[in-house]
Amino acid sequence: MDSIEKLVPDNLTSLQTHVLAEEAKYPEATGDFSWIISAISLAGKTIANKVRRARLENVLGSHGTENVQGEVQQKLDVIANEVLLRCLGERASIAVLASEEDQEPLILRSGKEGGKYCVLFDPLDGSSNLDVAVGVGTIFTVLRNDPNVKNAEQTVCQTGVQQVAAGYILYGSSTILVLTTGHGVDMFVLDQAIGSFLHVKQGLRIPPGNKTYSVNEAYAEQFPTGYRTYLQWAHEQGYSSRYIGSMVADVHRILMRGGVFLYPSTTKNPGGKLRLLYEANPMAMIIEQAGGLAYSGPQRTLEVVPTELHARVPVLLGSPEEVESVRRFSQE
Ligand code: AHG
Ligand code: MN
Ligand code: MN
Repeated sequence: MDSIEKLVPDNLTSLQTHVLAEEAKYPEATGDFSWIISAISLAGKTIANKVRRARLENVLGSHGTENVQGEVQQKLDVIANEVLLRCLGERASIAVLASEEDQEPLILRSGKEGGKYCVLFDPLDGSSNLDVAVGVGTIFTVLRNDPNVKNAEQTVCQTGVQQVAAGYILYGSSTILVLTTGHGVDMFVLDQAIGSFLHVKQGLRIPPGNKTYSVNEAYAEQFPTGYRTYLQWAHEQGYSSRYIGSMVADVHRILMRGGVFLYPSTTKNPGGKLRLLYEANPMAMIIEQAGGLAYSGPQRTLEVVPTELHARVPVLLGSPEEVESVRRFSQE
């Protein structure tokens, strides 16, 4: 007869158990952080369910509005934003929430009232892919609230190195949550049958030496010369290309398989398209924590000083040697 150990699967650590166990290593931890992650987990499960049922519930397509950045909002952009605001809004340690979909940060409480953290998010990333059932995601980052800073936008305009935690949820063929608190990268998979994110990988490392690039190559004519030369070189070197157009899905593949993800500046978006605070920075922290590199132009993404909540940056991230190959050309 098989022993009990053999019959029970290994990965029965839930996200909540994992975060609580990590917190227990720090005697000064109050448990506030684990409440934030539990809110993100609840929001992620709710959004995953909405995304999967979108066509059945007739919530695909445009909401008929534009966000502050002039982008057409999908119905699910608005729903996912509401879900996150509602789940996180209930957590007593959150001072400020800021979203891609809202012009201004939302002030919940001051430092004196217990507001220790700020949470910034892209509620639904890649939402233009929703109608065709391609993977989309949620990106989030947790920052400390500085009680001395009065203005909410200034409060959240912190450099990426100051992030307390960062992560994303990928609503793909399975629902994946990737999290870093600055001590490596962990991965969880949603077991829909029991409603829990289960821990499947600890200390994720981005694999080296994958000759794959992920870029919207149709914009190549608009890229700086160095990037065009890099692409030409990559073609000659027998590189492969993979691009979905959902940053979460594209970066997740890079994290798991290696390679490089690029969204350079273009003539249409000279400052880049992706947003620094809630797209580039969380991804850069995850990639660096997994042993990779992330740059915005000549600067390490995590050191770029944000000027405003919705600031954009060029993005280059992935396996160190692949990122360095691009940099060799982009600096020529
Ligand atoms: P969002 O749906 O949150 O606005 O983000 C879309 C982003 C990102 O997910 C993706 O990498 C990029 O836009 C794709 O842009 P292009 O269509 O210009 O390639
Ligand atoms: Mn996005
Ligand atoms: Mn979005």
